Amino acid sequence: MSATAMTFDLVSQSYKRNPFPTYRRMHAEAPVSRTKIPFIGEAWLVSSYDDVMTLLKDKERFVHDPKNAGRKQRAGISWWMPRLVRILTDHMLGSDEPDHRRLRGLVDKAFGRRGIEGMRPRIEAITDGLLDTVAQHGEVDLVEHFARPLPLTVICELLGLPQEDRPKFTRWVQAMTQAPTALGIMRTLPALFMMTRYLKAQFERRRHDPRDDLITALVEAEEAGDRLNEEELLSMVFLLLVAGHETTVHLLGSGSLALMQNPDQRARLAEDGSLIAPAAEELLRYTSPVEFATVRYPREDVVMHGQTLRRGDCILPALGAANCDPDQFDHPDKLDITRRPNNHVALGSGIHFCLGQQLARMEAQIAFERLFQRFPDMMPALPAEDIEWRGTLGLRGLAGLPVNLGATA
Ligand code: HEM
Repeated sequence: MSATAMTFDLVSQSYKRNPFPTYRRMHAEAPVSRTKIPFIGEAWLVSSYDDVMTLLKDKERFVHDPKNAGRKQRAGISWWMPRLVRILTDHMLGSDEPDHRRLRGLVDKAFGRRGIEGMRPRIEAITDGLLDTVAQHGEVDLVEHFARPLPLTVICELLGLPQEDRPKFTRWVQAMTQAPTALGIMRTLPALFMMTRYLKAQFERRRHDPRDDLITALVEAEEAGDRLNEEELLSMVFLLLVAGHETTVHLLGSGSLALMQNPDQRARLAEDGSLIAPAAEELLRYTSPVEFATVRYPREDVVMHGQTLRRGDCILPALGAANCDPDQFDHPDKLDITRRPNNHVALGSGIHFCLGQQLARMEAQIAFERLFQRFPDMMPALPAEDIEWRGTLGLRGLAGLPVNLGATA
């Protein structure tokens, strides 16, 4: 059977604002389709919940390291790109067993439930401090003043990066999530170089002056030689910064907007604070900040929904679409903070299941709870069609969210 070719608009403002019609089309017309993705090229887009679960969980048949599927290099990496790009993109998310187990083992403990639970008072204090600043304005950009600084402060504190350097990080990380075109990559390079130089200087400092932070722990693992080499150290910290920051910014931004746009759900949460945990899960599902998981490569030819996916082909697991599969979720384009069960895949699944899931969940619960308690009348300052979304492929989030705070509780 010949491949079903489809074209989906995955970056326009209208898609980002309301992706549900596109998800419906994927499910109805082609749950497994051949499509052209900017920068990656030809790829399979897989959107049904069950197939996406198979891609995420079946580590024998679907691998992350292209070499394990007979490909020379990762999709999207070209000969003209500097070596640094290869180094930084060669991290645990792109590795298979046994490398993945070794790398993840170095950071698993720091991100485990107990370690993260210990951060709760600090995250609450950071949240309240930011809300104090927000409260000084009548109208404010919630992304710039709340959704972005909260996760950035948290991940920088966990790694042990100085407070005064955070504005630099914001600029670098934002520059790195540009449109995935050749020009976009070229524009990213200065930020990549500056960030690399900066991180190497931080590593050097920790070698002479160890502290009680994650960078020191990783530098010590590097010094143990067989556990982490210098390039792995760099790509690990890079991954933690990017994965731990941008994703959470988007959840807090789009999640706040979704609650404001669904007054009945917002009112339920205000009436019953114990709904905060299921509300955060539903906001993860409904907003799906990571729209596509990273590319998987089949190790052998496989047939999915009647389509033959060849060894080494690129496959994109469409997490956002899977989270709206009507066979898995009733009324998937409805926000329902009491939804049960809610087995969404917004944080992935299988061996690459989000390392920061405890942290992301805790940040989200604290942020949504305190934000809406403090500003019970807060509303967007612009009509929905004027609110700008970022045009990044594969990540869904707001460029900004101007709000009127209303009366303070
Ligand atoms: C709302 C926030 C977040 C979302 C939606 C999210 C989503 C995801 C998803 C979908 C994956 C799996 C990707 C794949 O299988 O290709 C993943 C992996 C990962 N996430 Fe998160 N994430 C979030 C927050 C965080 C935070 C706070 C950190 C902390 C550093 C983090 C670190 C990572 C890392 C290191 C991986 C790779 C794990 C591995 O390869 O074993 N994430 N995340």
